[in-house]
Amino acid sequence: MESLLQVDKLNVVYDSPKGQVKAVKDVSFTIQKGEIFGLVGESGCGKSTTAFGISRLLRPPARITSGSVKLKGRELTTLTDSEFDGIRWSQLSIILQSAMNNLNPVIKIQDQLIDAILAHKKMTIKEAIKHSEFLLSLVDIQPDRLRSFPHELSGGMRQRVVIAMALALNPDLIIMDEPTTALDVVVQNGIIKKTLDLQKKFGFSILFITHDLPLMLEICDRVGVMYAGELVEVMRREDLLQNARHPYTQGLLRSFPSLQGEKTRLEGIPGHPPNLINPPKGCSFHPRCPHAMALCRVHEPSAIHDRKGIVACHLYGEEGEMSEPLSTAGEIN
Ligand SMILES: Nc1ncnc2c1ncn2[C@@H]1O[C@H](COP(=O)(O)OP(=O)(O)OP(=O)(O)O)[C@@H](O)[C@H]1O
Ligand SMILES: [Mg+2]
Repeated sequence: MESLLQVDKLNVVYDSPKGQVKAVKDVSFTIQKGEIFGLVGESGCGKSTTAFGISRLLRPPARITSGSVKLKGRELTTLTDSEFDGIRWSQLSIILQSAMNNLNPVIKIQDQLIDAILAHKKMTIKEAIKHSEFLLSLVDIQPDRLRSFPHELSGGMRQRVVIAMALALNPDLIIMDEPTTALDVVVQNGIIKKTLDLQKKFGFSILFITHDLPLMLEICDRVGVMYAGELVEVMRREDLLQNARHPYTQGLLRSFPSLQGEKTRLEGIPGHPPNLINPPKGCSFHPRCPHAMALCRVHEPSAIHDRKGIVACHLYGEEGEMSEPLSTAGEIN
């Protein structure tokens, strides 16, 4: 498979009166052409900041301090806004949690779609309307809805319109940041199914963000787990359930009863994610980690990239193999 997106050691901070919030730390991953890549992790771990960093939506007090984001080999972080405008929609679209954050409430659907299309394609208005009707048909919405304002549609329908809009110029990558969390579960399932059908049809890649791990395991090819601004693990979906390596991933998996079968007691991860202005020294997960060793309190583990994926944990050596059996891995807290 060909690499479509390459994120390399991306760092993003928010400057705040209390200090610098290190929201994304040395995050590196790739997304292949046609791949669905998921980012999961507790609230505040930096998923949206990563997505916004990739899609150039960060605004002060957020700023990228270092790192690289390449889409089809082209560096995005150094593009001017007008250079990036040429890529937005045609190569990369982003869908946010609430459809209302994606749509302008006072402009008719038709005008919003046509604006996006005409900004990039040489078409007559008539052709753009025809194309808009086609886009709505892809998400099972009648063409007469083009003349509606966003507030005249149901929440699910609005999010379908947003998906149609994201597809308007046949992009290579669609970033979806919690695209269905604001919707009820039946509508959510319909939208996810539609998205997967369209992905098969058009072959775009997806960066899918959610804190719903079971959903992620259903739809993503590979899953990246973030903790306190860092990407601590990446694995193929089929490996993650049985073979997750990072203790945080193992804890997350244990937090979802549906993944563990009915008999297993639901165990959350004790404690809270750290303050990102002053994260703990060493591994930022060590205060909550059942396997923490003396080393973990002092040295930050670096991410190992190997054939199984990525893991950033001192339990694993050079090859990503466990250094010692878990039960004897140094001091147990
Ligand atoms: N404007 C801001 N100023 C200071 N800190 C911020 C700001 N926006 C976000 N942060 C901090 O950045 C960190 C990452 O936030 P982000 O929104 O990326 O997390 P997330 O993983 O998307 O969470 P959620 O699941 O709740 O959407 C959080 O600790 C958050 O408090
Ligand atoms: Mg978020």
